[in-house]
Amino acid sequence: MNAIDLAIRAAAANITLAGVTKAYDAATTVILPMDVELRAGEFTVVLGPSGCGKSTLLQMIAGLERVSGGTIAFGGRQVQDLEPKHRGCAMVFQNYALYPHMSVFDNIAYSLRVSGMAKAERIERVGAVAKMLGLSNYLSRKPGQLSGGQRQRVAIGRAIVREPGVLLFDEPLSNLDAQLRHDMRVELSELHRRIGATTVFVTHDQVEAMTLADRILILNKGRIEQFDTPKAIYHHPASVFVAKFIGAPPMNILPVTGDGAVLRLADGQAVVQSRLTGAYQLGIRPEDILFGGRADGHWLTSALRFREDLGSHAVLAAELAGSTVRIATPFGAEVADHAQLSLHFPASRLHLFDAASGRAIPGAFGAN
Ligand SMILES: Nc1ncnc2c1ncn2[C@@H]1O[C@H](COP(=O)(O)OP(=O)(O)OP(=O)(O)O)[C@@H](O)[C@H]1O
Ligand SMILES: [Mg+2]
Repeated sequence: MNAIDLAIRAAAANITLAGVTKAYDAATTVILPMDVELRAGEFTVVLGPSGCGKSTLLQMIAGLERVSGGTIAFGGRQVQDLEPKHRGCAMVFQNYALYPHMSVFDNIAYSLRVSGMAKAERIERVGAVAKMLGLSNYLSRKPGQLSGGQRQRVAIGRAIVREPGVLLFDEPLSNLDAQLRHDMRVELSELHRRIGATTVFVTHDQVEAMTLADRILILNKGRIEQFDTPKAIYHHPASVFVAKFIGAPPMNILPVTGDGAVLRLADGQAVVQSRLTGAYQLGIRPEDILFGGRADGHWLTSALRFREDLGSHAVLAAELAGSTVRIATPFGAEVADHAQLSLHFPASRLHLFDAASGRAIPGAFGAN
């Protein structure tokens, strides 16, 4: 780590939410009592569908919204009653409003100037941040003379120049095209490694979540569905909701019934040996399904409906027991259109969920 990195390395704090709730009105609670600990220096991605409470959660951490109940602490210090400017965190929004009449330098330096920092120190700090973000050659330009990605970097520069211990992002990349999003993801990862602020990043893009996060917090209707590493969330989803939310295409979920010997699909076909009895939901990822009919074990008869060629691989959609099942196949696998497909679900790749609650039943097979 060089002198520039050290100069703007933040003092990371852990963030502790205890019993935090939010209700905008008496009828609807947007965030249900939430207990969560974000470790110092950790990159947390908050992921969930539109309206699940992601921005609300972030704004309560930032101090832009008050909590309806509970406490928020940064490094052990309760902050829920403090003004945003006294919390020591910085936020980058989706619609980053830069001051259009100010240069890049002045945009980044704004908060330092307001806080009364001496000019020489401002120049040094802005110079270090601009260098880190690749903006050194643009400091005299106005925002209107920059590309979308450059403007986004200015917004990030403005947030980190104050050396926040907590850095909050609300969908900062959603206005950018696919290539820029990818580039910015890489830059954000590197930036995080360098400055090490405790970071909370809101998105509904699962690729951003999987690639950026140390841990992903999956939110559903104001409740935490799962909070774990990207790997654990992918391989051991805690609920049907998580299983269907992560993965493209997502995990296949099929209703099954156990008779004490095998689990059967709705049409009676046997999927796998099991001593379980009663109704369950069975999950298998598209890339884990085998087809062709060569190996031993239970084989299922399905009808191929359509295929999508994605270059690196193809996704087949087949009808099985009244449900559509998606199968990811390596590029070049030859399957005739409208053919009957013989499928096998390896036991070690199966996930089992409670039929009513949708919660995972760990240890039912090899996978979960
Ligand atoms: N100021 C407000 N007054 C009343 N209800 C609000 C207010 N702000 C948000 N809500 C409601 O709270 C819920 C959560 O909103 P929030 O903005 O946190 O969702 P989100 O997960 O960020 O969604 P998106 O992905 O669409 O940005 C929504 O049902 C929303 O309608
Ligand atoms: Mg939002």
